[in-house]
Amino acid sequence: MFSSMGNEYISGQQIAQELGCSRQAIWKAMDELRQDGFEIEAIRRKGYRLIGNSDQFSKSELLYQLNTSHIGQVIELYESVSSTQIIAHEKAKDGAKHGTVIMAEEQTSGRGRMTRQWSSPKNTGIWMSTILRPTIHPQEAPPITLVVAVAIAQSIEELTGIIPTIKWPNDILVGSKKIAGILTELQSEMDVIHYMIIGTGINVNTEEFPEELKSIASSLLIETGEKQSRVKLAQLIWEKVEKLLDIYEKHGFAPIKLLWESYVQSIGQEIQARTLQGTYQGIMRGITDKGVLELELSNGRIVPIYSADIEI
Ligand code: BTN
Repeated sequence: MFSSMGNEYISGQQIAQELGCSRQAIWKAMDELRQDGFEIEAIRRKGYRLIGNSDQFSKSELLYQLNTSHIGQVIELYESVSSTQIIAHEKAKDGAKHGTVIMAEEQTSGRGRMTRQWSSPKNTGIWMSTILRPTIHPQEAPPITLVVAVAIAQSIEELTGIIPTIKWPNDILVGSKKIAGILTELQSEMDVIHYMIIGTGINVNTEEFPEELKSIASSLLIETGEKQSRVKLAQLIWEKVEKLLDIYEKHGFAPIKLLWESYVQSIGQEIQARTLQGTYQGIMRGITDKGVLELELSNGRIVPIYSADIEI
């Protein structure tokens, strides 16, 4: 109703006529929108005007014009949780559908990769865990993290015009600072995936980071100088994840790999890969069709790296 209005007032009568309902129904709908977090000004003889959305997520806004079949069609929204990953695991075990998203305005114990913490201050970012039930073999699961990294990079580019880079396997950076990270957790048996949880943390409107993160983390607000729509960004990500997952399931990783390489940092550069088995130094040659990083050591040997922290 408000999407085509710009910043103007629209009378209750006009809305009622256009939608073919009573003035009373409009009044009730405005009330519900306000409860959902929309700021709507109402002035006698002028009508209603959408001032802006508050800093709260609302399900109706997240679902409005969302162009997906599954991802984001079921949303569970929380004010404050320890970690959306924990809730997503519980919901998945209870049978939550493919594409269900658990979101929170704040996480008190957000989890990062390699048992790190993930800072998730209130109302500033997108802290969400998506439950996926892909119809693939467990061995085909690791590239899904890279699929999601591409979807996030494309969405940030579309929303802000900034071209982010991807640092293998799944950090999204602007310049040298991290904007987003992905934590993938898999519940499977030898032959079957029960479910995957894709945890995504995106620093959208964070104004300032704690001292220890200042030199390594940034937000879209800091990088663009403007507050960004968390709702629009979440919708873009869901739409792109759904599209890219479909490509991956039908055609394998090769088409996604090309997209991933267009955002990736450091191919052909000297890097250090810190793995649980030890640290390797060499030239990053690229990734395989399974998403595994290939590192060329000084003796010319190529080592496959499955999981690591990369230093450039
Ligand atoms: C990383 O880069 O280390 C991954 C960070 C993942 C953070 C997200 S925020 C939503 C979800 N819940 C968590 O506790 N972690 C992930």
